[in-house]
Amino acid sequence: MPLDVDAIRSDFPILSRKVSGGKDLVYLDNAATTQKPQSVIDAMTSYYEQSNANVHRAVHTLAAEATEMYENARNTLADWFGTTRDNLIFTSGTTEAINLVAWGWARSNLKSGDAVIITEMEHHADIVPWQLLAEEKGIEIRVIPINTEKDILDMDIFEASLPGAKLVCVVHTSNVLGVANPIPEIINMAKDAGSKVLIDAAQAAPHHRLNFSNLGADFVAISGHKMCGPTGIGCLLATSECIEQMEPFMSGGDMIETVTMEKSTFASGPQKFEAGTPKIAEAIGFAAAAEYLSKLDMDEVHHHIRGLAKLTAEKIKSVQGITVYGDHSVDEGSGVVSFLHDSIHAEDLARFMDAGGFAMRTGHHCAQPLLDAYGVSSTNRVSFYLYNTEDEANAFVDHLRYVVEKFGG
Ligand SMILES: Cc1ncc(COP(=O)(O)O)c(C=O)c1O
Repeated sequence: MPLDVDAIRSDFPILSRKVSGGKDLVYLDNAATTQKPQSVIDAMTSYYEQSNANVHRAVHTLAAEATEMYENARNTLADWFGTTRDNLIFTSGTTEAINLVAWGWARSNLKSGDAVIITEMEHHADIVPWQLLAEEKGIEIRVIPINTEKDILDMDIFEASLPGAKLVCVVHTSNVLGVANPIPEIINMAKDAGSKVLIDAAQAAPHHRLNFSNLGADFVAISGHKMCGPTGIGCLLATSECIEQMEPFMSGGDMIETVTMEKSTFASGPQKFEAGTPKIAEAIGFAAAAEYLSKLDMDEVHHHIRGLAKLTAEKIKSVQGITVYGDHSVDEGSGVVSFLHDSIHAEDLARFMDAGGFAMRTGHHCAQPLLDAYGVSSTNRVSFYLYNTEDEANAFVDHLRYVVEKFGG
């Protein structure tokens, strides 16, 4: 059954607001963060209004309720991501999840000379931690380039880089190109070569129901705010074997078993990596987001989002002076369309579009090496989500055409 987009839109209060002097908001910056349905807002408000207390400590009624809500959120999310609560560590998002792998796992399990594979398609969140670790530990970083003619990773170089690699870090779906990488193939090849695998699923989790157990990766990093959840929360999914091998990254309260002035011992499982007062309301909101998505057919969600990206990419290609990046002919991929005009500066174009009510992104999208590979320093980017409509996509194309005719020289 196709998505009932009208019904979905009515769940998101912000979508009815006006911007830019009374224009209807057309929100097309979903790869940066998605809007939140009323149910997520209500879940967080209800926690603050009725049950706010710290978790895991006191025995009073509110503390017990807050603990139950927080740990139930872990259960809901573990179920949504096809794993168990023992394999889900709450983080502030994908960035912290990847840093947790770098500092919690790689730092204590890799030694000087060991190789980590990353790709030219990575977000900075999956580049910079590895560079810092390489400096500290003398780890070798092997980079898989992108074939910019075909917008795909060079799988021959990937295969040739595998011998001796201890960890492969790869983005599931590019936040710049919307291209999805051949993740099952990458995982199989890495596993055959004896390497662990980390998947950056920041852009994939919003429109695929990821199943951690079936995927076969060792680590998956996810942000809640890109899939209808609040900001400041995400998770790292990790196998039990890897969790056993990990050392604490942040330390302090809530992650210990015992502390004396000489020495501390640590809690086991996810709690070992969740030091301090956790993100309680955010975890509850993240679980409410998974519950919201669980009412939808995620194949239809993907089909809808991808369809809008394909339609938009196809139409704006014919606008004078526009170059579109990424292959939008395939069904795999996300709702992202990156493009540039040959004479209107990306930021000016974004302002002209904003004046028409269209929220889109400009810049390097925290993926400077990828943009370098394409020989550009920034792009304009629209990114669709489940509440966007074909009318919005068409209105975007029309307004872009108008702006280009007026200012494109
Ligand atoms: C592919 C990818 N990885 C990582 C991140 C970082 O996510 P966060 O800022 O939520 O930690 C993003 C955010 O845009 C992303 O698109």
